[in-house]
Amino acid sequence: MQVIHTIAELRRALAPYDRPAFVPTMGNLHDGHLALVRRARTLGDVTVTSIFVNRLQFLPHEDFDTYPRTLDADCDKLREVGCDIVFAPSEAELYPEPQTFKVQPPPALADLLEGHFRPGFFTGVCTVVMKLFQCVFAQAKGERHAVFGKKDYQQLMVIRQMVRQFALPVTIHGGEIERAPDGLALSSRNGYLTPAERAEAPQLVLALRTLAAGVLAGEHNLAALEQHAQQTLTARGWQVDYLTVRRREDLQPPAPEDLQPGRLVALGAARLGRTRLIDNWEF
Ligand code: PAF
Repeated sequence: MQVIHTIAELRRALAPYDRPAFVPTMGNLHDGHLALVRRARTLGDVTVTSIFVNRLQFLPHEDFDTYPRTLDADCDKLREVGCDIVFAPSEAELYPEPQTFKVQPPPALADLLEGHFRPGFFTGVCTVVMKLFQCVFAQAKGERHAVFGKKDYQQLMVIRQMVRQFALPVTIHGGEIERAPDGLALSSRNGYLTPAERAEAPQLVLALRTLAAGVLAGEHNLAALEQHAQQTLTARGWQVDYLTVRRREDLQPPAPEDLQPGRLVALGAARLGRTRLIDNWEF
């Protein structure tokens, strides 16, 4: 496995290959990321994982400075799952000058849910993903594949739409959420949780599953279900940003005719102490 820090070196390393499969990450890798890399290995003739903590997608009060940077441990894990190339650029390499050209996703998709609570987040994500795609795919001669986790459900949808609207020759794959045995979705930010918070954290997915079960049982008053879910978590000490049922296709609130199995997703974001967790449950 090669660990590469510059765009020029990455392009040289990729020159012999036709079909790169790419997993963009911010590092501090867990089994969820590794499942994406395993998936990527089945798709292309060379597997590339990027590790870059992207300042553009953090708000000033967020955890950019403290986000765990664990390159050596990440490389050990990537070697074990058979990744071929790790691309870990410095900030000066990826953003040698202020990144004033940006990819601005449409408000109808990017200003709701995560985008509402983290303004500018998806602009930061799209901008770095577009740039990383240029680094990894620009010279590929065959199919290009990229794998994103479904835990960041809205991010996956924004990236799919960006790829479609810019006609980027990249196939986007969504990897299923990996969960701990108690149901907690794996996330780099789980490492911030105290032992007591870690024991409480699976309540988020429980709240989402309860929302889904309510709809499937025929309760169509979504506002009442969502309010109850929010009150339940708040009473347990969470600060809830949102707990909501949406249409999978566009993340808009479902109309009565959409309330059918297979078309919906419950999404949530909430804080436990200083840690903000997100999760979702398709149903
Ligand atoms: O999901 C992430 O880890 C990041 O948002 C991504 C896609 C690597 C862009 O920085």
